Amino acid sequence: MANDVVGSTSPSFSTTTFRSYFWIPILISFLRCVVGSAEAHDIVLPSQRHNDSLPRSSSTCPAPNPNLYYRPVIGIITHPGDGASGRLSNATNASSVAASYVKFVESAGARVIPLIFNEPWETLLKKLELVNGVLFTGGWAKTGSYFETVEKIFKKVLEKNDDGNHFPLYGICLGFELMSMIVSKDLNILEEYNASNQATTLDFFENANLDESMFQRFPPDLLKKLSTDCIVMQNHHYGISPQRLLNNEKLSGFFEILTTCTDEDDKVYVSTVRSRNYPVTGFQWHPEKNAFEWGSQKIPHTEDAIRVTQHAANFFVSEARKSTTRPDAQEVRDNLIYNYKPTYGGKAGKGYDEVYIFT
Ligand SMILES: *[C@@H]1O[C@H](CO)[C@@H](O)[C@H](O)[C@H]1NC(C)=O
Ligand SMILES: *[C@@H]1O[C@H](CO)[C@@H](O)[C@H](O)[C@H]1NC(C)=O
Ligand SMILES: *[C@@H]1O[C@H](CO)[C@@H](O)[C@H](O)[C@H]1NC(C)=O
Repeated sequence: MANDVVGSTSPSFSTTTFRSYFWIPILISFLRCVVGSAEAHDIVLPSQRHNDSLPRSSSTCPAPNPNLYYRPVIGIITHPGDGASGRLSNATNASSVAASYVKFVESAGARVIPLIFNEPWETLLKKLELVNGVLFTGGWAKTGSYFETVEKIFKKVLEKNDDGNHFPLYGICLGFELMSMIVSKDLNILEEYNASNQATTLDFFENANLDESMFQRFPPDLLKKLSTDCIVMQNHHYGISPQRLLNNEKLSGFFEILTTCTDEDDKVYVSTVRSRNYPVTGFQWHPEKNAFEWGSQKIPHTEDAIRVTQHAANFFVSEARKSTTRPDAQEVRDNLIYNYKPTYGGKAGKGYDEVYIFT
């Protein structure tokens, strides 16, 4: 056999050729048979669509829901600093957004406009007219002009909703902590927790109302896994206990607890909330990290963990599509995050992988 193959000029060549290829016509007729029957039963070619009951062309596809907006834009507020303690920029005026928040929003079908926190308020107000929802990111800043800007934007979000514009807000980690401070009107409402850099489960709160919440759209299998598998990422030193939230009239009037978690010292904290009357969701955990951050070995990257990121993003953007804001397309493009370039800040194996820095 080896001789047959190597001896290309030997008489046995034709025999080899025959042996190697005689089955091809048989295979072809077999495939014709299989593909032909698939065509007949499953696949309708355009030329075969003569029956009016069959879908014909894109012109007959149902129009999208005219009440929804399919070009949603999300405003993300920048956080003081370069996101990496001066390793990336030492500009005194620098602020930043981890690219994971941008990717989170983009992955669900929306674009991002950065709301640069130290821009003049008039500029921020104009940008708020170009977006269909807002995201408050994680970080550490709780004072000064950053806090004031977040508070003003939070009030603006509620105002838009009061005016009949369904305008969602996600507050993640620090974003949720700031909302708690703003809603309670108590700068000392937060408690200390020991939950830096750990993956946890989510424990659904007794009688938690998941209807029309982010969790309603989680597939049942994933919803179950949330309370058994460590597929959400925590990284915080502050939080609020269910008791403190429930005992505070302003907070319990505004927020409903959906989940809690337990920290390294067995202290329970509120981990997901929804507003009772507004499309506002607060996370003490980080839905964006699972798919998009790699700087900590603790961040879960299993398929289920990635699904958590995706479902959390999908709900946010599905809410933003309900917004009635219809901004000028060019004004949107002029302000999109695409006008900026992210920096690879995670090369040292820590911190945010990519970060947008504004100076
Ligand atoms: C910022 O300052 C730190 C400390 O002096 C320095 O190590 C770093 O290289 C500086 N970064 C830039 C971008 O200049
Ligand atoms: C600080 O940054 C903001 C946003 O990039 C900019 O509008 C403002 O002019 C800057 N201020 C100074 C003093 O550089
Ligand atoms: C946080 O928890 C870890 C692990 O249990 C413990 O070693 C550490 O001392 C705790 N830190 C604080 C500030 O309580």
